[in-house]
Amino acid sequence: MSIPSPLALLMGNKARWLVGSMVAATALVGLLAYLDEQRESADALEAFGDEQASLASSVATGLLTRLEYVQRDALQLSDETASLSIFGGRYLGASVRRNSDPPPATIPDGRAIPLTVPLSNGRSIDLLVPTPSLFSGGTRLERPNAVTVLFLVPGSPRFLSTDGRQVDAPRLVEALEQGLTTLDLHRQDAARISLPERLALAGLARVNAGPLGRWGVVVAATAQRERDRESRARGRLVLAVALAGGLVLAFGGIALRQQRKELVLEREIAVREIERDRDERLARVSKAATMMTLASGMAHELSTPLAAIVGRAEQLQSRTADDERASRSVQTILEQADRISQVIRGFLNLARGGEPSLQAADPVSIVRGAAALVEHRFEKRGVALVLKVPEGLPPIRCDVRLLEQALVNLLLNACDACNRGGQVAVETNVEASGVWFSVVDDGAGISPEHAARVMEPFFTTKPAGQGTGLGLAITNEIVKKHRGSLSIVPAQPHGTRATLQIPFTLGETNARA
Ligand SMILES: Nc1ncnc2c1ncn2[C@@H]1O[C@H](COP(=O)(O)OP(=O)(O)OP(=O)(O)O)[C@@H](O)[C@H]1O
Ligand SMILES: [Mg+2]
Repeated sequence: MSIPSPLALLMGNKARWLVGSMVAATALVGLLAYLDEQRESADALEAFGDEQASLASSVATGLLTRLEYVQRDALQLSDETASLSIFGGRYLGASVRRNSDPPPATIPDGRAIPLTVPLSNGRSIDLLVPTPSLFSGGTRLERPNAVTVLFLVPGSPRFLSTDGRQVDAPRLVEALEQGLTTLDLHRQDAARISLPERLALAGLARVNAGPLGRWGVVVAATAQRERDRESRARGRLVLAVALAGGLVLAFGGIALRQQRKELVLEREIAVREIERDRDERLARVSKAATMMTLASGMAHELSTPLAAIVGRAEQLQSRTADDERASRSVQTILEQADRISQVIRGFLNLARGGEPSLQAADPVSIVRGAAALVEHRFEKRGVALVLKVPEGLPPIRCDVRLLEQALVNLLLNACDACNRGGQVAVETNVEASGVWFSVVDDGAGISPEHAARVMEPFFTTKPAGQGTGLGLAITNEIVKKHRGSLSIVPAQPHGTRATLQIPFTLGETNARA
């Protein structure tokens, strides 16, 4: 019978463990995917920042070229006068002054940026450069709400936008001074430079225009698109993990329910097996009880005719005193009747639950006594009976008549199993634990299924009227009362071996008997 509970428990725990691991694995995969997504988004932002930096650097190159033009134009001026016409209207104003004279008080605005170019003869030229012409490189790049370009004019703490607005962005000024090429702009910084109030990235470049000073260029772009893409990717990730988790839980739940069903089924099968075992045991007990009642009844009923037989035989004994042959026959009748009555008494005693009446006996004489009782049957069936019993075995304590009867049952079965010409051998010997008797025949043999049932009361394979199926059941009872054992196994190469073993455990008396 299977042992369901620990196994079932183990299976149940295993299923739970499996579902737990699946959930943990999903969570781990989700975490790894999240980290990967974070890394990718950081990489994307970095690339976006680098892009702004390279744009800033190209705007800076354009600015430098324009400043170089301004210098070249200034050097073309004569020492005498600065004529606007020379520059074809490229400047809004120009004047030459001695270096010792103060420069005109003009500040950069939306229209023009004042620039001073030193000349060789202790003089300088002050030019008013139109803002759009200087910042045209940035204007081309700008897109409203997306990209803003700012310029830091030398000597000014604020930026100028391409349309000449003053923009206050101290963090960007600081970053330019530090020589950074990119800078993350927080929401407020972004809003300050006309970008959406979201993360923005700025690319920074510096321009060294020699006598025209050091300029700064900033190209700032909102990272709104990247941010939106990032949050969409995160949403997809959360959805995927939730879906995977849901699937794991659903399948895990199904697996658990299945497991539980199997568990219940297993338990039911186990309960049914226990019930069947119990019913079988009860049936066996009830059969044994019936057998004992039946056999006791028979023994009781036999005692009356037996007493009559003994009485008549005793009467005959005095009358046949002169006839020796008749007298011997009467004597045999009396002996056998006495034997029957001893067996009946012993058996009734066992049936009442009493202990066998033990006496010291020689195992060999028990074998010979049993053989004598069955030899006529062997002769009749043409089966040889061989006694392989060594002399000088130590005596054992037992109920001699009952043990003889047990051996008789084994011998009769062996004889029945043999064909004419067959052979039955009785072997006996002692070992440390007790004495054993084996009856080995070379007859039809016995199947393992029958061997397992032969001690059941009323189990017989013989035709009705030829076997009651009580022989081995009674033998088994006798052996049990002697605390011994009975086994019926197939013999090699064919036939059957029936062995009964009587231990020396009926007190030490057996060993000393
Ligand atoms: N030596 C044997 N060889 C083959 N089968 C055997 C042998 N001994 C017992 N059996 C089987 O065991 C069954 C039960 O034996 P058991 O002695 O209890 O009853 P029985 O011999 O059928 O009837 P009864 O002993 O009452 O005449 C037999 O019917 C037979 O099938
Ligand atoms: Mg029998």
